[in-house]
Amino acid sequence: MLIPKKIQLANIPSPIQEIVFDGYPFLIKRDDLTGLELSGNKVRKLEYLFYQAKKERADIIFTTGGDQSNHARATVIASAKCSMKSNLFLWGSESSKIEGNLFIDKFLGAQISFLNKNDFLNVNQIMFEQSRKLKMEGKKVYVIPEGGSTTLGIWGYISFIQELENQINIKNIQGILSASGSGGTAAGMLVGAALLNLNLKIFCVNVLYDQEKIKKRILDLAEGCILDYKLKCKIKEENLEVIDGYSEEGYKNVSENKVKLIKNFARGSGIILDPAYTAKAFVAYYEEFLKKRKGKKVLFLHTGGIFGAFAKKMQYLKA
Ligand SMILES: Cc1ncc(COP(=O)(O)O)c(C=O)c1O
Repeated sequence: MLIPKKIQLANIPSPIQEIVFDGYPFLIKRDDLTGLELSGNKVRKLEYLFYQAKKERADIIFTTGGDQSNHARATVIASAKCSMKSNLFLWGSESSKIEGNLFIDKFLGAQISFLNKNDFLNVNQIMFEQSRKLKMEGKKVYVIPEGGSTTLGIWGYISFIQELENQINIKNIQGILSASGSGGTAAGMLVGAALLNLNLKIFCVNVLYDQEKIKKRILDLAEGCILDYKLKCKIKEENLEVIDGYSEEGYKNVSENKVKLIKNFARGSGIILDPAYTAKAFVAYYEEFLKKRKGKKVLFLHTGGIFGAFAKKMQYLKA
């Protein structure tokens, strides 16, 4: 078994808290507290990806996401920490509101190319061509694909399972629920659980891709990692469950009802959820687990994203 190396970027272990909301007690793991500017689930993946970028002596990091991408913002901060420049290829336009994550990207001087929805479908090709041009000028570019979800990046969530096992008696929980965008977080947790021989269910709330596509991406990433790193474990497909139907308003939007619920949650717990990912995951968790599957202990993973809330502040206030 090959275990990749990492640099230290995240404040981990992240805390686990016991919360009571609307009379329902549950556990929440606060990966929103892995840092401040550099916070959320992406930081765990970036620890591995930046080790590799440094090893390859990169001076420019390329990555991609929406104009409010938490991953892109975390990458910009990590690049600054590592004295590298960052180029972002974002789904959005010059007129995108300079708020939240995009504000931080600009403040830190990231070079930003905006792509419309159609061009964004070819973003990997676009990044590849641009990096080739820069390489011909003698620059060393390290490309991080969407969400940092590569077989290397997902080690962040393979090691997360070990961290969790050190914190609680993991056999007492049935599973973990989180939002899924590029799928790396869920893929890492699946592999991490398989490596430790744990029968842990990974519930993911798809916010970007449809049910079939995200399931395939997660399983392909997990299997790819097992192959790349010669891991001695087997993924049980039945341990992955996609909770569909909680992002019907679209990735960049959040419905008023969802904001109402997360506003109550914030006012009762002091915990703020973001519009693109954790609001949708939490509403799914509330409807499907707290209300319906009472007694089944499923841990809610808060994956961060607070800066995205600033871009929706009027909607958050009005709800
Ligand atoms: C706050 C937040 N939660 C969840 C996710 C989804 O993680 P993954 O892309 O690993 O599925 C992201 C990804 O960008 C995110 O920013």
